[in-house]
Order: sequence, then C-alpha cells, then structure tokens
Amino acid sequence: MAQTINTAVTRTDARRKVTGSATYAADVTPAGMLHGALATSDVAVGTLTSIDTSRAEAEPGVVAVFTHSNIPDYQTPKGFYAGGPGAASFWPMDGTEIRYAGQPVAYVVAETAAAARRGAQLIDATYESAPAQIHMNPEESFIVGAEGDKKGMTVTKGNLEAGLAAAAQTLEATYETPFQHHNPMEMFAATAEWRGDRLTLWMPSQSVRTLRGGIARAYGLPETSIRVISPFVGGAFGSKAGITTYAMLTIAAAKGVGAPVRLIVTRPQMYTVATFRPESVQKFRLGADADGRLTAFEHIEIAQTSQFDAVVNPGTHMTRAMYACPNIHTEQRLARSDTNSGGFMRAPNEMQTFFALESAMDEMADKLGMDPVEFRRMNDTDTHPVEGVPFSSRSLMESYDAVADSFGWADRATAPGAMTDGDWMVGYGCATATYPTNISPSSARVRMQGSGHAYVELAAHDVGTGTYTIMAQIAAARLGLPVEAVDVVMGEADLPLAPISGGSTTAASAGSAVHLACLNVARGVIEKVVAQSEGPLAGLSPEAVTLDDGVLRGPDGRSQPLVEALASTPMGELEAEGQYRHPALTDQALRATYAGGYGVAGPVTPEHAMFAFGAEMVEVRIHRWTHEIRVPRLHGAFAAGTWLNRKTAHSQLLGGMVWGIGSALHEVTETDIPRARFLNANIAEYLIPVNADIRQIQIQMLEEQDDYVNPLGVKGIGELSIVGTAAAIGNAIYNATGKRLRRLPMRISDLV
Ligand code: MOS
Repeated sequence: MAQTINTAVTRTDARRKVTGSATYAADVTPAGMLHGALATSDVAVGTLTSIDTSRAEAEPGVVAVFTHSNIPDYQTPKGFYAGGPGAASFWPMDGTEIRYAGQPVAYVVAETAAAARRGAQLIDATYESAPAQIHMNPEESFIVGAEGDKKGMTVTKGNLEAGLAAAAQTLEATYETPFQHHNPMEMFAATAEWRGDRLTLWMPSQSVRTLRGGIARAYGLPETSIRVISPFVGGAFGSKAGITTYAMLTIAAAKGVGAPVRLIVTRPQMYTVATFRPESVQKFRLGADADGRLTAFEHIEIAQTSQFDAVVNPGTHMTRAMYACPNIHTEQRLARSDTNSGGFMRAPNEMQTFFALESAMDEMADKLGMDPVEFRRMNDTDTHPVEGVPFSSRSLMESYDAVADSFGWADRATAPGAMTDGDWMVGYGCATATYPTNISPSSARVRMQGSGHAYVELAAHDVGTGTYTIMAQIAAARLGLPVEAVDVVMGEADLPLAPISGGSTTAASAGSAVHLACLNVARGVIEKVVAQSEGPLAGLSPEAVTLDDGVLRGPDGRSQPLVEALASTPMGELEAEGQYRHPALTDQALRATYAGGYGVAGPVTPEHAMFAFGAEMVEVRIHRWTHEIRVPRLHGAFAAGTWLNRKTAHSQLLGGMVWGIGSALHEVTETDIPRARFLNANIAEYLIPVNADIRQIQIQMLEEQDDYVNPLGVKGIGELSIVGTAAAIGNAIYNATGKRLRRLPMRISDLV
C-alpha cells in the first residue's frame, strides 16, 4: 500500500483551480439573477439626514434601490465577540446612525453589475457629522471581561515588582503594530436566491454552519430552510469567518426584489464591510538575573476595538505560555475608536504580540550580553509557566538547533554593526514561532463502494490551504486506497458538523473525524468478511478484527487488505460517521460549535498545554547610504506533530514566512486622520512582498510525535510560521545597525 500521510501529494483540486473549472461563489449565476452594489458613507460618525435615490432609480438597468427605510427587515445577529455569529454587533442600514467611514447606506440592484455600480454612485446622501477618531488612544484603555475574569484577561503569578527588584538586568519597552487588512485574492461575494421561505446562499466562507445558523435565526426560519454553499474559497485569513454586512444586505435585497442577487464587493469596500487586524500597543517589562534567568515578566497588550464591540484576541495568553518565570503579570486591554469591528487576521494576536515579545527577548539578551538563542534556552520550560501543566510536546529548542545549523548562526557577530559586505550592513536575527493547538469537535461521513471508491463528506472548508487533499490522504491511508480513489465533498452546511476554518483547527479536528469515520466504515466490511464461508478472516468474531492502515487484522496473524475484502465480498455501499471530540472539550464548547460558533479544547487542558513551535533566523542587509532593507535569507524550522502532506504543509509555512516579511517591512493600512478613513484601500498601495522582496526561504519540517493532541497527532500549521518573522527581521536590523525599531512596519525612514 502506498503511504499517503507524511508524503508530498499534489492538491487534488489543483487542475480544477488552474483550469478555472473550480466554481467560486461569484461564478454561480442562478436564472434571473440581478446584480447588487453598495453605496457607502463618506463620514465616519454622525447621522444620515437624507438619502435621495431618485437619480439612481432613473439610471437605465437599475431595478431597485434599498436604504434603511425600505430594506426588508431581519433580526440583526449579535457580533462574534458578544457571543453571536456576526462579524460585528452593529448592522448598517438598520437606521440612520453612522458609526464608521465606508458603512453601507444604500444597496442598488440592477440588471448588470455596471448599472448597479453606476446607480450606487448616484445616491445623494447628506449627513450630520460628528468628530471621529480612527486611531485608538492607548491612554484610554480598559480591561475586558472584568466580571470574575474567567477568561484570564488579567493574570498575576508571584510578585512582579519583587522579581524586577531582584533582577540583575531589567528592560522596559513598548512596541506598536498597525491596522492591517486581509486582502484575499478572491473578492468578497455573495449570491442569494430565495424560493419562498427557502434560501440558497453561495458565498466564500470559513464557516458555512455559522452562516446557516445565523441567517436562520435572523429570519426566524429552521436551519433546514437555508442552504449555504462554499466549495472553494480564494483566501480568507479570518475575513470570511463571521456573518458580514454585505452578506446580510444581499440576502435582504434578494428578498426585496424577489429575484436572485449577486454582490461582488469592490476592493476598497472590502476594507470596511468585513474585519481587519486592529492596531495594538504592546508593553513589556522584563527582569533577568545575571545568568539570564527571567525573574519578572510583564506584558500589557492594548488593542484597538470599535465603539460597539469588545474585539479581544488575547495575545497575553500566548506570550505568558512561552518562557519560565516565577513572577508574571499580564493584562489584556482594549481602547476604542471609530471603525467597524476588527476581528481575526492570520495569527490574530500572535503576529503582533510575538513581534513584541520576541523583540523584547532580543533586547534583554543584548543587555545581558548573551546569545539570543542561549537566552531562550536558559528560559525554556517543559511546563506552562502559569498553568503548571506540562506541554504535550514542545520542540522549541530542537527547532532553534535545526535552524541554527542550516542558517549558519555560529557565524553571527554579536556586536551590532560588526558584519559588513561592501556598502551593505549585515545583520542576523532570530525569533520564536508558536501557535496554540485548538481542537474542535468534528464529524465526517464516509461512504464506500464495493469497487473500492470512497466518498468523504463533511462541512469543512478548503480556504486555499489544501484541505480537500489532506482529507483524501487521511481516508486513503486508513482504508488502504490510492488518494485518487477518495472523493471529498465539503463546503456545505448540510454536511456533517465541522469547525470554523479558523485558529488552525481544521486539519487536526476534521481530520480526526475522517480517521474515525474510516474505522467505523470498516466495521461494516468486517461484519461481511467474517460471515463469508472462506477467506483469511472467515468465521472470526467481528470484534476480533480491526482496521490497521488499510489492512483488516485478526488474531494469529490472520489478515486481509481491506480492498481485497471489498473485491471478494458482495458489499453494496457502506456508510458510517465518525464523531471526534477531544476528551478535554467542555460541554459548553461543544454547544458553541453546534450553534455555529468557535468551540475548542486547548490550548490549555487540565492535563496539558498544546502548542506548535518553531524558530526562524534571518539575514538582513541594509544599504549604508540608501538604508534600503533587504532580506536575502530567511530560514525556519518547525515542529507541529504529524505532517499530513509535506507539499501543502511546506506551502503553508512558506506563505506564512512571506507574509511575515510583509508585516515586518511593508504592510500597513494607512489612515486619513482628519476624515477617519482607511486610505490605501487597494492592492496598488497596500504594500505586500513581491518576488523582488523574497529571496532564499528555507524550511525544515521536524518530526514530532504527540499522542495527546488527537488520534492523528496533528497540531495545525496554518498560522504558525507568520509568528516571529517580523521580530526576527527587527532583531537582525538591530544586529546590522544598532538601531532598535519597535514599530511595524519597519521602513527606510525609521533608519535615516
Ligand atoms: Mo484564521 S485568522 O484563524 O481565520
């Protein structure tokens, strides 16, 4: 049998994607479909005092114009951070209140997309505007969830001040990270079709069940009346997780006109009708003894949030899990400003908090005169520093050792500015990568035919990461089939429960369900083969036979490959479900998942702390006269339990590191402060790394066995490798120049 796990398997959907036959939400055209377009607010805060739609309505092709006064009503969902399915708690066109620039004020429906967009430009709205602030004021921050603080928004262990007083070296430093927007290649789009009280919605989604449940409640309909279809997603990164403004408005508009409507959101509008990465301030105070052992660790994170949601992605939960320290204090704080609500964006808190933490660790190592890798080794720990439970596996220093070898870390000169090459100042930097292992309950159905073909069905999503392929690999490995003999069906809410594709949960969670479903479908085969009059397993009790990677095994070495059993026994079609639930999953998390929310076990359970780890090392070159910053080499070593697919996993790690270069050097959503607007809302001015910015990237995928996390031993890698990249680059810039940059992105102007 061909080994299908931990090998490089080309994506099963690759041909469909490159030939254009993969159907995305905006490719669907139901009969009689009309086109939608949004008109949005010019002011950030105020009241819509009048809205004249007559010019839009007179535009040829325009069929209807909806505003707050005539859009069909629905029960607006609560926002995600308030325990609901919405991307935000405030819903536009529900009244005349304006709370952020770019808020939709009218929805135009027309016979063509062009007519709809022309109509949207002809909306005449007037506003009474009030002063608005797009940036938070960190001085006006507050602590989230103060009542009882069950979620650990503030944590104190030991005595921080005593730890600082006892330290041989202390560091106090503040780091800043900017607003960032996801910019997936696939535009936000929704196509909605009502037939009476039944709705079909085609929409790229990280959670078809969140959409289905939320829409059903908004319209007071049973979930069985709502079909949500999302077979392909062209990138999401957190932007397609909750129910967004544009989705609800499209559904309402389709109801209003009595015809299917498709909306493709424009790129500038994508900056305000979904979520983004909030800006943040990260304050650290560290103390260490003369040997380099941490004696005090304080991290206060202040993240931006809207006026109407408490968007908390708790970075302090991750930073306090990293290094041994007897005296720890962390605080998770928010500060409000006038934007739509932010949300998740790839490694939603780890990217920004680990830029700060790993920069601070480098600063402290420098103060101690220690090698930054040795400083981390000195503070490495087998147990969670606050929770006290052991890590289920932790290959942090193995990662550092592996990457140090490939990179040639030993050649690094400790003194800043010591390495040069002609007019180039050369610097080496390193940082830790980590990501929590979040395990969601999940189900899958496997159908198997006598011919040896299997179908795997589950409500998971392929957000571009290769999920179709790894699910096929898991089933193929368990059933002893070639990958091509497995068809995977996903991206529909009616399929068996699978989690939100967020928090790097899918491979581990849904993969475990597929694994269990395969074991269960094999029970049907076993019952038939033991009932046969001849064959290697004939006459055995079914309980005595198990499936072991494609082979049915009984006592006394009696065995038969599953495919052989299928071929020799009249079988018909077999079907079984697998339901996976991590033993540490709480009932509350289970209920949340069934309700379409984000329910996980981990990263800390009563027995273990579950995290994936890695280490990155980077060489930067800074031109002495132009201060141009180049990244000729970026190496990483990662351990995340079992690798399912060495090709797609490598691509995920590579993509994260490239994005890390972007966060470090390019990426920021610029703001128009007087008008409180996002400014560079397009791909021309929102800078991302291009080929010229990306040189050698080398990745090592370390072997790691973790039997606690789930039956497959998989930790999840979608968000691991972006974490730490920016700090590694900043640390290398310091090594090259002696200049410490504490704000992202780090640009030429910061070095002049
Ligand atoms: Mo990802 S930011 O967890 O969708």
